[in-house]
Amino acid sequence: MIFETHAHYDDDAFDNDRKELLLSMEEAGIETIVNIGANIESCKSTLALCREYPFVYGALGVHPSDAEELNEETFAWLKQAAESNSIQKGGKIVAIGEIGLDYYWDKEEDVQENQRIWFEKQANLARELSLPMVVHSRDAAKDTMDMMKAMHAEEIGGIVHCYSYSVEQAKEYLKMGFYFGIGGVLTFSNAKKLKEVVEYLPMDAIVLETDCPYLAPVPNRGKRNSSLNLPYVAKEIAVIKGMDEEEVIRITRENAKRVYQIER
Ligand code: NI
Repeated sequence: MIFETHAHYDDDAFDNDRKELLLSMEEAGIETIVNIGANIESCKSTLALCREYPFVYGALGVHPSDAEELNEETFAWLKQAAESNSIQKGGKIVAIGEIGLDYYWDKEEDVQENQRIWFEKQANLARELSLPMVVHSRDAAKDTMDMMKAMHAEEIGGIVHCYSYSVEQAKEYLKMGFYFGIGGVLTFSNAKKLKEVVEYLPMDAIVLETDCPYLAPVPNRGKRNSSLNLPYVAKEIAVIKGMDEEEVIRITRENAKRVYQIER
């Protein structure tokens, strides 16, 4: 059974068939899903999805592109929601995320500085609650690494989601004990760099993710993505690693349960 570590089922793209789709997961071999918050509203939706579906867990956090939503008041809400629903307290919140830096869209220095401020505050929240963090980093390799070293991210742990950097950077994240979220991009014909990273990574550092509704793998590239497409990603990893697809599914599921501290 597959463990989906990063999905956005609160997204509008699922408004017409969310329930039907989620209820079809088990039969399709998808055992567990972690829905990832990206702003305050989607954090609330994530909590609701956790309540409604036994197999859905959640991460709460604000994405760097929405960092302007954060202030003392919203951060206090986030903290309270994560703490009272955390898996250590019998709840279903298993991580703080997605948090990080995204310089692809935001080029202004003051906006980037605001991203850095809230990345650090949310990372420290993860530390305080003994939860791993789900890191989003795009076009910000150096600043992300510098910040993670400075904050001793190895003491927090977590997943670098939709990993898109070099093998050299991967070595650094590995040293910090981080996991690598691998998704549909791996199946793209232009994913040479990511294929090299997957070849390099030990199997016990890889987790499966979709980032759905985005980044559907080949042969569904460009369509709405869902966890039902994860077998294509597992298959591609199996080819690169020269191993069985079932073995990839088993190991990545164990990895996901370890990083998210899920017992079942
Ligand atoms: Ni995401």
